[in-house]
Amino acid sequence: MKVKTVLTALILTTALVIATSIPGFSGPAPQSAADLASQLPPGEGKGYVQTICTSCHGLGLIVAQQKTKIGWEATVYDMLGRISAGMDREADIISSYLAAHFGVEPAPSVVDNTMAEPASSDVEIKIYHQVVFRFKPEVSVDQIKHVLDTGRAMLESIPEVAAVIVGTVAQQDSDYTHGLVTGFKNNDDLQSYRSHPAHRDWLTDIYRPLIEASLVTDIVAP
Ligand code: HEC
Repeated sequence: MKVKTVLTALILTTALVIATSIPGFSGPAPQSAADLASQLPPGEGKGYVQTICTSCHGLGLIVAQQKTKIGWEATVYDMLGRISAGMDREADIISSYLAAHFGVEPAPSVVDNTMAEPASSDVEIKIYHQVVFRFKPEVSVDQIKHVLDTGRAMLESIPEVAAVIVGTVAQQDSDYTHGLVTGFKNNDDLQSYRSHPAHRDWLTDIYRPLIEASLVTDIVAP
């Protein structure tokens, strides 16, 4: 019985700590609902934000954020999906409104497409390893150049990598802005590349800290 009481107390305390650490959930000295509402500029979507978006948490959670258009769309679709399906029209209006007033520009797309020829033209590539990614919004052009330049240098220094493409994603409406494609003669070469120390170090020290989202696919030739 003692153990149960302690456990309950622990769970309650943890829940309280989590709840008060989320801005907008009632914590110390909350801003009044009227103060927060005055931070919503007029526009189509304001009404929805004030009604639909405050049914589970305060406005504070929303006006404290700045997100890219894609970021707001992801949040709004996630939130509305919790109430009901088929609110795409409302979701579009709300995301456009929030992106216009609580938005940040996405990381700039540095156009620096380069393609390295295979080491020798008779190398037959059997597996392509493709990564597309986007940078966190606060990442600067210089930081992007640094990631791409050091990435290319790292890839070209690994003997198992038989072909390299570093570039930007052509589709304007893609969720990703940049990509790397590497070609390999066989799966063993791909696996040695994956565990190569230069590759691992670059991922940990340079790439991951600046990346918001990525998608990896390996394509195997028949
Ligand atoms: C069904 C309840 C519910 C509704 C309705 C709701 N939210 Fe949320 N929201 C939550 C919960 C719970 C969290 C806490 C973190 C989580 O679960 O993702 C949250 C967290 C957030 C966050 C902070 C986390 C993040 O992803 O940035 C934002 C911003 C947000 N909501 C915006 C909105 C907007 C905008 C709307 C209206 C389109 C909305 N919410 C409607 C339940 C809801």
